[in-house]
Amino acid sequence: MSEEKKKVINSLKDTGFYKPGKIYDRGKVIAGIVVFIVVAAFPFFYTAGKAAKMHEPKLDTPVIRQLPEAERVCVLPKQEMRENHMVLLNEWRDQVVREGNREYTGYTGKKYTISLQNTCMECHSNYDEFCNECHQYTVQTPVCWGCHIQKPKEWAG
Ligand code: HEC
Ligand code: HEC
Ligand code: HEC
Repeated sequence: MSEEKKKVINSLKDTGFYKPGKIYDRGKVIAGIVVFIVVAAFPFFYTAGKAAKMHEPKLDTPVIRQLPEAERVCVLPKQEMRENHMVLLNEWRDQVVREGNREYTGYTGKKYTISLQNTCMECHSNYDEFCNECHQYTVQTPVCWGCHIQKPKEWAG
């Protein structure tokens, strides 16, 4: 018996799965291992399948379309926005509420007025297809619109 095989059998003995000398054990051990692998791998395949289905957030809005190609960017680089827009929104809120300062300088040096309604949503006016579609996919339901009431009523969520 190889060293490797001995190690595996010993560790199986520790778990109580493997009881040497009984004919049916082998099948059970193999079945156990197969079940374990399938269960352990499930989240991976499940996520991979979902990730493949996700479409790119749609950027086709009147305001974004009108931006010159070179300025067709967000306030921070795309990847950073994708991962951290919620953090940025919290910072924006704190800056307005605590400091009364509504000026924000984007990564390109462009100045923005801090406003969820008038800045983010002016460019991303396709709330349902942009914000909402991604949140539904990632199972997020930010509750902002009860207070930020300028949201057009056709926006869901
Ligand atoms: C309980 C009510 C309430 C809820 C819920 C709420 N906000 Fe606000 N928010 C406010 C108020 C009040 C201000 C201050 C408004 C001002 O001074 O212009 C504010 C300001 C802000 C600002 C900065 C100013 C502006 O006009 O954008 C941001 C950004 C913001 N909130 C983001 C959010 C986000 C994102 C959510 C959802 C996760 C959210 N808020 C949920 C009440 C709320
Ligand atoms: C001047 C118009 C403009 C403003 C203002 C703006 N965005 Fe963007 N946003 C864009 C563009 C254009 C992109 C795509 C950037 C790229 O492709 O490099 C983008 C990308 C994003 C992405 C990433 C999308 C993806 O494909 O993963 C998120 C999330 C986002 N914006 C949220 C916000 C939020 C939240 C705000 C307000 C804090 C905001 N944006 C303000 C134009 C804007
Ligand atoms: C590329 C996908 C994507 C897009 C596009 C997107 N979001 Fe998100 N959003 C997320 C994910 C994922 C989270 C949860 C992140 C986490 O929990 O760490 C989130 C969380 C948030 C939160 C915090 C929610 C909470 O309860 O803490 C707010 C607020 C938010 N998004 C607002 C927006 C707005 C406004 C837009 C459109 C301008 C937008 N998002 C577009 C993926 C996206």
